[in-house]
Amino acid sequence: MIDRHDTTDIPGSPTGTPPPDGGHLIVFDTTLRDGEQSPGISLDTAEKLEIAEQLARVGVDYIEAGFPVASQGDFEAVQAIARSVGTQPGAPAICGLSRTQLGDVDRCWAALRDADRARIHVFISTSPQHMEHMLKMDEAQVLAEVRSGVSRAREHTADVEFSPQDATRTPLDFMLEVLRTSVEAGATTLNIPDTVGYGIPWDFGALIQHIRREVPGDYLLSTHCHNDLGLATANTLAGVQAGARQVEVCVNGLGERAGNAALEEVVMALRIRADQFPGVTTTVRSEELARVSRLVARLTGYPVQYNKAVVGRNAFAHESGIHQHGVLADRSTYEIIDAAAVGQVGRQIVLGKHSGRHAFADSLAKMGISIQGDGLNQAFTRFKELADRKVEITEDDLEAIVAEEVGHDLVEGFLLDSLEVSGGTVGVPRATVVVSRGGSKSEATADGNGMIDAACVAIRQATGVDAKLIGFTVSSVTGGVDALGDVVVQLEAGGAKVSGRGVSTDVVEASARAYVSAVSRLVRIQERNDRRQVEIGP
Ligand code: KIV
Ligand code: ZN
Repeated sequence: MIDRHDTTDIPGSPTGTPPPDGGHLIVFDTTLRDGEQSPGISLDTAEKLEIAEQLARVGVDYIEAGFPVASQGDFEAVQAIARSVGTQPGAPAICGLSRTQLGDVDRCWAALRDADRARIHVFISTSPQHMEHMLKMDEAQVLAEVRSGVSRAREHTADVEFSPQDATRTPLDFMLEVLRTSVEAGATTLNIPDTVGYGIPWDFGALIQHIRREVPGDYLLSTHCHNDLGLATANTLAGVQAGARQVEVCVNGLGERAGNAALEEVVMALRIRADQFPGVTTTVRSEELARVSRLVARLTGYPVQYNKAVVGRNAFAHESGIHQHGVLADRSTYEIIDAAAVGQVGRQIVLGKHSGRHAFADSLAKMGISIQGDGLNQAFTRFKELADRKVEITEDDLEAIVAEEVGHDLVEGFLLDSLEVSGGTVGVPRATVVVSRGGSKSEATADGNGMIDAACVAIRQATGVDAKLIGFTVSSVTGGVDALGDVVVQLEAGGAKVSGRGVSTDVVEASARAYVSAVSRLVRIQERNDRRQVEIGP
């Protein structure tokens, strides 16, 4: 492996250097771009919009909404976010990722242009590994690409970010040259990606400081740290301490491979240890962090690990007697964060079986969830069914129902009309399902190695859609024996990977709903591809 440098390469070290002045720290959320690159995650436009709306409520400064040239779906999602979230008063600026090719930059701008504030993020790899094996370009060619890509982006917008991909494995002198070139071409933010999570905090901090000293111009420095060694948050904080004034983060630490620095960790570290970052402030409303974490977990199908910092369900749980005693006597004995400050509090019961449509819509509005039309009608019907089975409906339950219905409403796919299962310790598990699509119904009965398996096989037969099951997760929305089971199913067919979710007090029904929802997405992708083929012709 070619080492970029160690701290001895860099004149001066962060130790002993006075920290830069405080000031506003830009929080740049890339959950919808880098986060969506996590294996198996595939969000639809409606789901991306819902996450973007919640990110706006969280108060991030930028939403990187996607990579418009990557696919038509990505383009449409970035455009939809730019047009809706990006035009709301006080909304975050919307950003799109682009390679240096001029066509990519133009396409990126076409997706973004309707936002009130839009940024193009241009990147190219600069490490020897990437240049030799992927780009097949030499240094002069990369410099020329930087110049042309960034200049083109500047023709569209004054807000241009540039990233030398794999910066932490790039020889220092070449990286400085690349960065100077990008500033001359018009970049206003220089993002330093630790693409493969190779950085070590003091080394990464020293790198940021060195760039500040060696690259002249009017720009802002940014961090983008991956978590391959579990150091993404630590490296990000080292970058801030060294003078970076933008952090690129993902909700729940999602992202390629081991993920990116987690939004909630970086924000809370800056807040709880403000003494280490004098005067550095963000506009994040920390009380919204738990909600955005739950929403992203539900829509992506990536559950949050129980012991995840800040947003994990055990982050405020105390098991040992000594700890429990201490916390009961005074919370500060074993907790440095107030659960309420991150929205991790006992959520009030909002509705019951006698609540009407108005109260339902009103509760959703208070929770900041906007859902209208058929989606609202279906969610209300589901709520009523649930209220018959479950005495207390909490905000978490409502969020889960709405997340399922939003996904379903979007795909106009199959509906699960009925499900009947039999099984247990004696006899073969069997399921009969009735599904409908566009008014036509079909029924199938199948055996399986358990009731969930039997239900999935029956759905496969009734829908006629064959797919490989690549992921299946079950979690409970709240505690108690009548808790809602939340199931996420991931399927793969014909090169497409999709996920579907289902919630119910019965985990077999939740699984069947999730399976039907995933199948509907596959069908929609298949139909979209077929339509394109017809448009393009033989
Ligand atoms: O990790 C990375 O290098 C990236 C760039 C595109 C910024 O995600
Ligand atoms: Zn990345």
